[in-house]
Amino acid sequence: METVRNSAIVIIGAQGDLSRRKLVPALCALVTQGLIGEGCMFVGSGLDPMTDEEFRLHVNAGEDLVPILRFHHGIKGLKKFLDSLGNFERTIVFFSLPPSVYAEMAAAISAEGFGPDTRIIVEKPFGYDLESARELNTNLQKHFPEHNIYRIDHYLAKEAVQNLLVFRFANTLFDPIWNSGHVESIQISATESLGVESRGTYFDGAGVTRDMVQNHLMQMLALLTMEAPVSLDAEDIRNQKTNVLKTMEVVRQARGQYEGYRQEKDISPDSDTETFVEMELRIRNFRWAGVPIYIRSGKALGRKGTEIGIRFRSTPRILYNNDGGLKANSIVFYIQPLNGIVINHAVKVPGSDKEIIHSQLDFSLSDEFANAPMMDAYQRLLMDALAGDPTLYVSAKETEQAWTVLENAPDVGKKPFLYRKGEMPHSPLDIDWIDFSAYKGRRCGARPAES
Ligand code: BG6
Repeated sequence: METVRNSAIVIIGAQGDLSRRKLVPALCALVTQGLIGEGCMFVGSGLDPMTDEEFRLHVNAGEDLVPILRFHHGIKGLKKFLDSLGNFERTIVFFSLPPSVYAEMAAAISAEGFGPDTRIIVEKPFGYDLESARELNTNLQKHFPEHNIYRIDHYLAKEAVQNLLVFRFANTLFDPIWNSGHVESIQISATESLGVESRGTYFDGAGVTRDMVQNHLMQMLALLTMEAPVSLDAEDIRNQKTNVLKTMEVVRQARGQYEGYRQEKDISPDSDTETFVEMELRIRNFRWAGVPIYIRSGKALGRKGTEIGIRFRSTPRILYNNDGGLKANSIVFYIQPLNGIVINHAVKVPGSDKEIIHSQLDFSLSDEFANAPMMDAYQRLLMDALAGDPTLYVSAKETEQAWTVLENAPDVGKKPFLYRKGEMPHSPLDIDWIDFSAYKGRRCGARPAES
């Protein structure tokens, strides 16, 4: 990656948690690695008055960052302040703010003099539904053109997620079988062991469908099922993701809530917000017609793991599969905490003619690249925004399309069923899930740098 020079990043809402936990450490690491070079400045803007020193202490800025990190109180005069610090070739404004104020803030910074050539970065959630996402897009686009609006989905910056396209399009082995002729089902599971913790107010107004499915899971599904892009340019990849999202439809879904959720901090005592969701989708296109797509995500489930599984069709009921009991092949992409790819396939047990078990061919990102430097998600995303590369960001069309898929889902109003905290509920849709925990990470370890 090339060193970036003569650039400015302004963080609005810089006294908040995200800035201290993710953004400042990411910037500091980039400076230390020499990826951010001369002529760069970072400015934090927040509502509580602070001196530069107080701000640096507040966000725990590392010593490499201190000389180029300044603080500005509020928005008024922010552009002038930035101009007094240098002559920057590009300016990025990161909205570390609640989404409800994005539109207002875009208007405010534009009025302050940040022109349409400024790149703005916004976090999810992007809208609450299709209508609000459209309205937000329109309001942001009034001040900044679409190509300068960078919508974060931090899953796209995970190494194992980026590997999906490489696996599909840099190997000849898999493309011929990547279709309904060979694939029995696609399964995406993102389960978390933690409950809502301190994010009750936000989560209770959202639920796991908006929090995880609309963005992270739909993005992974789009990468897994899209057609080959004509080039690796951001626009071509994003167009293909949009195209496949256009063909998706939720055919069944079940929503759950963990016992005790209503008693958690900042949760309404009669809340029907779902903390677990399981869905079956279809992709109505030539490649995937008839293939069920299963998705599930939830909190307080006793197991943290994100996996994508492709289960292939069984072999015919002859030879080794006379009784139909032979397990079908599957490929599992372990996204986190294990990160690697496993191919489950049949082998003969030595000494026996008939006994066949499933063995695993595995690729482990952490072992293969044990000593390679790995960027965490925010480092990667900030570098890409500085370089003007939106490939790992989500376009307006993609986000609107993902909302459309969920908006048309059946049963949205139904009361959630209850499940016990710390346990995986029995599949409410009776889905035969791949046992993702069957892989013990013989080699696939978690990389500490991944977030
Ligand atoms: C966030 C959600 O986008 O992703 C959180 O708002 C969730 O609720 C988190 O816990 C999961 O991210 P990761 O990287 O830990 O899987």
